[in-house]
Amino acid sequence: MFIPVPVIAPGVAEIAPGEMRTVHLGDRAVLLVNLEGTFHALDDTCTHGECSLGEGYLDGGIIECPCHGAAFDVCTGAALTLPATVPVCVYPVRVTSTTDLEIDLPS
Ligand code: FES
Repeated sequence: MFIPVPVIAPGVAEIAPGEMRTVHLGDRAVLLVNLEGTFHALDDTCTHGECSLGEGYLDGGIIECPCHGAAFDVCTGAALTLPATVPVCVYPVRVTSTTDLEIDLPS
């Protein structure tokens, strides 16, 4: 079951289209991505290693891991290129106001 979790991330509204930011929710690091005005949330940790995807490179709907170059689809979490073969988890996001987002994370 999924539970709405308010994101405590000052300046979320400042994540401009084409930008991303890592937020920490408990022991989980979640990457928020603004793709052309639509927010997406996915695990921040690359499935190949322990690198932060938030420190990587965003090109359209694709994030490239800064460590070994694996690419992931922002919308689906799919691993698109080696060395990663396992997708990252993606989470539903909704905008509750112009400054707040909610992410449904598994409990
Ligand atoms: S840790 Fe991301 S590609 Fe290796």
